Amino acid sequence: FSCGVVIVAAGRGERAGSHAEGPKQYRRIGGRPVISHTLDLFVNWPHARRIVVVIHPDDEALFETARAAALPAGDRLTVVHGGPTRQQSVLAGLDVLAADAVSHVLIQDAVRPFVEPAILERTLTAFQHGARAVLPAIAVADTLKRADANGNVAETVSRSGLFAAQTPQSFHFPTILEAHRRAAASGRTDFTDDASIAEWAGVRVHLVEGGAGNVKLTLQKDIAMADQRLSHGLP
Ligand code: C5P
Repeated sequence: FSCGVVIVAAGRGERAGSHAEGPKQYRRIGGRPVISHTLDLFVNWPHARRIVVVIHPDDEALFETARAAALPAGDRLTVVHGGPTRQQSVLAGLDVLAADAVSHVLIQDAVRPFVEPAILERTLTAFQHGARAVLPAIAVADTLKRADANGNVAETVSRSGLFAAQTPQSFHFPTILEAHRRAAASGRTDFTDDASIAEWAGVRVHLVEGGAGNVKLTLQKDIAMADQRLSHGLP
């Protein structure tokens, strides 16, 4: 078992609005860029043999500042440029990892800085039991509505068996590399997560419990809440 980590951070973060600090992964929460918090988790994780961070070419300087604010990763850290979609950015990271011949990979959104170590433990356990694809997820608690074009409720959707997908999504490395390359070769570039590429390739995806606090920072209010959470010393 040897594990690589791909952290994707090449998005423009447009849903959070434009901001002087740059895209949302570089916004400061608890006094440091979001991605510095995310990096720390994996630098601290003893199984991470290599950490590949995928950034936008325009963000070199922002990333260097963020890296300096994170725990030192030494020569375990590699930086590579991403592509126009998340899927293309992940593949850029996987291509770099291919040289390391790792057996497994964790793929993480930079904008999820609150991964609990327990999620990583559950993932390792699932690997030990032979899983090739592991997805942390939370059972949907809200009642779900589908809207019509006028903003009215068209129907209520049963939440039975529905889960919200989180990251890190973790895989047997050769399996996900092949699935990603096949997806790209088929012309698809719009998969929004990696588990869906595994599903598309016919790989069974094993669900493990995610974390209630493992939120994705998407909107301005998410960043404000994350900052408050850290400023008040909450875990
Ligand atoms: O856009 P979305 O919220 O799905 O982005 C999730 C993660 O994927 C973010 O960390 C973002 O920086 C990253 N991403 C990327 N390359 C893109 C688009 C998104 O690395 N082209």
